Amino acid sequence: MKIFIDSANQKDIEKWLNYGILGGVTTNPSILLKYGLYDIEEGVKRLPNIIDPLPISVEVTTNDTTEMMEQGKRLASIEHNIVVKIPVENESGIPCYGVINQLEKSGIKVNATAIMSFGQVILAAKSGAAYVSLFAGRIADEGGNSNEVIAETVRWLERWGSSSELIVGSIRSAGDAIKAALTGAYITTVPPQYLEKMSDHKYTRATAKGFIADAQNGLKMTAKSKV
Ligand code: E4P
Repeated sequence: MKIFIDSANQKDIEKWLNYGILGGVTTNPSILLKYGLYDIEEGVKRLPNIIDPLPISVEVTTNDTTEMMEQGKRLASIEHNIVVKIPVENESGIPCYGVINQLEKSGIKVNATAIMSFGQVILAAKSGAAYVSLFAGRIADEGGNSNEVIAETVRWLERWGSSSELIVGSIRSAGDAIKAALTGAYITTVPPQYLEKMSDHKYTRATAKGFIADAQNGLKMTAKSKV
């Protein structure tokens, strides 16, 4: 299983990368805006180098399928580890599977994104997407059972030996990340604040404090016994 970080914050990416935990990075236009990377093609330039050779997903910013192709090619040409994120349909409901298929055929890795249903998973995988991104939190926002969709996706991808890898995104708590992992998600992309929550436990801190105090007490006893 792999953990990706859903962030464009350089410090957070470097921190979790140095812990040896990360398998990749995902971004989207809202994440880039949050971190002040207003011009996406310019803004993402420094991030791929930091995580090289791990993959970083960067999303196209147009509704037009022809422009998606062009922008996808431009993004992919920035660095070899950029994976181009293409939504499975645009805001008018026009399917983007043809864009996914053509980019993949031209050797560009695509992350089919904004997937909210198992049906969309099937079509995205069939179109050749290297990654299929299920938005667990948004599925749950609409009253859907995200764990059921994750489990169906894992079973289906394995059954047919699909080369598409599932990324579970739209993680809204440490619990969501853990549930996705337990449901069999091969990759879960987690915002940094929930990686922190997974890492920290007050009882671990208290235990570490107790051990350090006793180690110091032990040193004092050793010093006393030598007097
Ligand atoms: C995944 O690739 C997306 O960037 C992200 O997880 C979307 O999450 P959100 O629903 O919290 O915006």
